[in-house]
Amino acid sequence: MYYDSRPPMSEATLPKPSNPTSDMLWGFWYPALRSAELRGRTLARATLLEVPLVLGRDAAGKPFALRDICPHRAFPLSFGRFDGTSVECAYHGWQFDAHTGQCRHIPSLTADSKLKCERISAGSFPCEERDGYIWAFMTNPEGHGADSATPPPAPELPTFSARYTIAHLSADLPCSVDHGIIGLMDPAHGPFVHQAWWWRTRRSMRDKAKQFEPIPNGFRMSPHAPSANSAPYKLLKFITGEPATTTIDFVLPNQRFEQIRAGRYWLSSRTTVTPVRRDLCRLDFVAAWNILPWFPVVSFIIHVLGPRFIRQDTEVIEKQALGLKHEDRMMLVDDADRPARWYFELKAAHLESQRTGQPLRHPVSGPVTLRWRS
Ligand code: FES
Ligand SMILES: [Fe+2]
Repeated sequence: MYYDSRPPMSEATLPKPSNPTSDMLWGFWYPALRSAELRGRTLARATLLEVPLVLGRDAAGKPFALRDICPHRAFPLSFGRFDGTSVECAYHGWQFDAHTGQCRHIPSLTADSKLKCERISAGSFPCEERDGYIWAFMTNPEGHGADSATPPPAPELPTFSARYTIAHLSADLPCSVDHGIIGLMDPAHGPFVHQAWWWRTRRSMRDKAKQFEPIPNGFRMSPHAPSANSAPYKLLKFITGEPATTTIDFVLPNQRFEQIRAGRYWLSSRTTVTPVRRDLCRLDFVAAWNILPWFPVVSFIIHVLGPRFIRQDTEVIEKQALGLKHEDRMMLVDDADRPARWYFELKAAHLESQRTGQPLRHPVSGPVTLRWRS
């Protein structure tokens, strides 16, 4: 697979289909499960970047994530027992420290055995709980060396007051993480996929010009007044009586943040698209807000309109998967597809910087205005 890194095209050039790098990015935090899915001493399973994980909570409630493959004969550890400290494989009873994956006990060994069981390890991944999710830091496919380096802090949804309401939504997307992510940042599908009388119609399409700027590991759609042709934003302005501004950030490997601020009112959301397998990813959406807690209009938008939106995206991706079976190349057409192009460029720059140890060469050099119709 290669990424087509030709300069942005002029009117005279036709976009050639390309197939960008489809690598999954290691060395980042990914949400594995919702917090509520890990209760008591039960073990849960998740897959991140094609790595099977077994997750649980220790006696103090702190979550852990091990590679769900016993180093002895590959039996999934998730079928085993957990006593609050160690996970015991159900095949021959080997025990592994829940946090480090180090082997603690091999029941078949006699007292005079020379085998140093502590040299054996099931892979382990740093694990944290934030914003109602259990996150795993995906160091490498084996989960080795996780204890030697300290990972960066796990991602956290920005919030702007002590009290707020929070909600979570999720959906499986039957596509590669790249198609999932560029779907997130694609302004051109809105009028066709998310049509509704209360939101926007094809007839409400108009010229858009938005300013973008580079941020570390990503890019930002600079603060601007929300799209004038969307009803919920009009409603927001009406109920808060304040002009609203929206800021949208994309940050590697997979996070889209959106903040809407209107005076002291705020709504902050994050959407992540997490690779499960090469052909499957999961969208997780979390939103927190302090807008009129006694008048559940935002709650209605998130809980009723949000799932509808996500269903529209899921359906479109299911249909797209039918075509992608035959053709996995794509065209990126300026300016509407420029954020998608930046995503692929950022990803390539990140891989390059991992390879060389040099700082990431950011593909966006300064503020730039993109224009499209949507
Ligand atoms: S396969 Fe796990 S102990 Fe043998
Ligand atoms: Fe969408």
